[in-house]
Amino acid sequence: MPEDLFPETASAERAQWLRQQLHHHAHRYYTLDEPEIPDAEYDLLFAELQALERAHPELSSPDSPTRRVGAAPLAEFASVRHAVPMLSIRTETDTLASGAENFDQRVRRELDLGPSDPPIAYVAELKFDGLAMNLRYEHGVLVQAATRGDGEVGEEVTQNIRTIRQIPLRLVPLSPQPGAPAPLAIPAVLEVRGEVYMRRDDFEALNDSQREKIAKGVKGEKTFVNPRNAAAGAVRQLDPAIAARRPLSFFAYGLGDVSDLVGPAPQTHYEWLMQLKAWGFPVAAQTRVVQGAAELVAFHQQMGQERDQLPYDIDGVVYKVNRLALQKRLGFVTREPRWAVAHKYPAQEQLTTVQAIEVQVGRTGKLTPVAKLAPVFVGGVTVTNATLHNEDEARRKDVRVGDTVIVRRAGDVIPEVVSVVPDKRLAGALIFTMPRTCPVCGSDAVREEGEADYRCTGGLFCAAQRKEAILHYAHRRAVEVDGLGDKLVEQLVDAQIIRTLPDLYRLGLTSLAGLERMADKSAANLLLALEKSKQTTLARFVFGLGIRHVGEATAKALARHFGQLDRIMNATEAQLLEVADVGPVVAQSIRTFFDQPHNREVVEQLRACGVTWAEGEPAEKAPQPLSGKTLVITGTLPTLSRDEAKDKVEAAGGKVAGSVSKKTDYVVAGTEAGSKLTKAQELGVKVIDENELMELLNGGT
Ligand code: IVH
Repeated sequence: MPEDLFPETASAERAQWLRQQLHHHAHRYYTLDEPEIPDAEYDLLFAELQALERAHPELSSPDSPTRRVGAAPLAEFASVRHAVPMLSIRTETDTLASGAENFDQRVRRELDLGPSDPPIAYVAELKFDGLAMNLRYEHGVLVQAATRGDGEVGEEVTQNIRTIRQIPLRLVPLSPQPGAPAPLAIPAVLEVRGEVYMRRDDFEALNDSQREKIAKGVKGEKTFVNPRNAAAGAVRQLDPAIAARRPLSFFAYGLGDVSDLVGPAPQTHYEWLMQLKAWGFPVAAQTRVVQGAAELVAFHQQMGQERDQLPYDIDGVVYKVNRLALQKRLGFVTREPRWAVAHKYPAQEQLTTVQAIEVQVGRTGKLTPVAKLAPVFVGGVTVTNATLHNEDEARRKDVRVGDTVIVRRAGDVIPEVVSVVPDKRLAGALIFTMPRTCPVCGSDAVREEGEADYRCTGGLFCAAQRKEAILHYAHRRAVEVDGLGDKLVEQLVDAQIIRTLPDLYRLGLTSLAGLERMADKSAANLLLALEKSKQTTLARFVFGLGIRHVGEATAKALARHFGQLDRIMNATEAQLLEVADVGPVVAQSIRTFFDQPHNREVVEQLRACGVTWAEGEPAEKAPQPLSGKTLVITGTLPTLSRDEAKDKVEAAGGKVAGSVSKKTDYVVAGTEAGSKLTKAQELGVKVIDENELMELLNGGT
């Protein structure tokens, strides 16, 4: 940009104006979450200021918003002696109410208060899980940010802290309100203390991008164990350009060195927090003034419940005596104030060791690797199992037997292995591999392309899948056993009355007697329904076997194509592929299913129990007037039920879909057809009634 665009004095004014605008809008955006202008407009102002400062370096100032990005890397951090030491606070780990009660009693004793004296006012705050920071402002400008260090001497990390948008670089004095006394002036020296932390969503995004870099082979990159770790890494990052890309946040909770006050001096800790908030510092919305121990306990409990919903980690709450005069009277013991205490929650992460990795089989046949852990108290309970989810996750985390791992349990979420501590790995620890057979029934376990999970293919026989298999078989649209529902199957399997499907047909009144809610009448009805189910169709039977990817329509297509069960069971993948609608994944799944000796056995036993259907010749030549057509049925048809209409369409080679799209050939509409009919009309899809459907089925057009 040519120099003369920015004549000296005008530039200085413009730069100041731009900085003031950017400060204002950054505060609206990052702290208040209430932007007044679109991002693009902000970017324009920002770019203008950058250009101006580049053209006139003498105009640059340490509080400029442009300083938030990219200063030069450092060799090491400078040491800073804190003007006022950064103390730690006493911690109550007692999870029960007594943590708060002990504190209140100590405070009352120190202040010589008797039981009849009124309760003490406290500020109850969240204990953020990040790292403590001292922000020093001189004449309202951020001049230095330092870590706590050993409490006396910390590290100067100003450049990195400037990149945190929530931290004001310059404090704007509050304007006086008409009729009110002048507000507190910004002190010549003001040190604000608080916590630098990383939000959980920012942490996840950061780790995702770290994983991408690692996958691309970028050297020296790693993922972070938790948000606190990531925040600490970012603060102590020597290259501010990298720090600027690490999304940090800040909450103010106290003060360090403060010079003489001009104006109404806050009398309580809470008033100070509100003053800081008015100057633009983020203060947690949960911060509250409460009275006495009982209300501290209530706060601890409530935040314990809300903890998992917060967008950031907390590891407890902090109680502080509210009145500054009382704080002063209470003073300090060694390096801890008597007027504050941290009341912790049980840690949500702990270290433990992996004793074994087992593979569990779910009710739908899904194999899940589970780490068996040395018992560890985490998130308020003792944990001995943690899921590794699936093969890829187990590989990604590379968890091995004998490893020391970080286990996390937050709220009601299932405990999870977060990561391995690599330094503690035992020599010779073996990489985990998923078994190729089901650990429950020994059938083949397969992982299909594009799927994350291994599955047991012995669905009819596998003990883990019994309940699902029986429920599926008994379904209304499968073999249909009226009255055999969830609860009953649960009981029959748990009482070991039924192990595999054929056991259904061996049930008698005696075995059913004594089951919950099973009166003689319902037992007899069930036996009747079972008897009735023996007469079925090939399509229903094949659907009822619960072969993965073989839904009702595919079962019908198979039945129609092959005519006989043995032909289906013995068909090669190539032969299966000849069936319309059967692709390679389905063909392979059918083949694998019937390759399992146990599945075949169950099928034979069902036939031996008298389950039968009319077998036919391969019916490839049967007319298929709706072959390749997709129909949607909506509303109430005059004579056919929805299911009947569907059966007819499918028997004629058509497909029935659940929603209308451009690919729909016909919408069959009855009375009270709603949005699907409207959609059809919008898309220009042909709408027909039941009569017209019948014509189509009979080969008309
Ligand atoms: S007050 C003299 N308030 O917890 C009082 N500390 O030892 C000084 N922390 O690492 C601390 N949230 O960074 C205070 N609302 C809060 C806090 C808090 C988190 C951290 C602090 C320090 C430790 C206290």
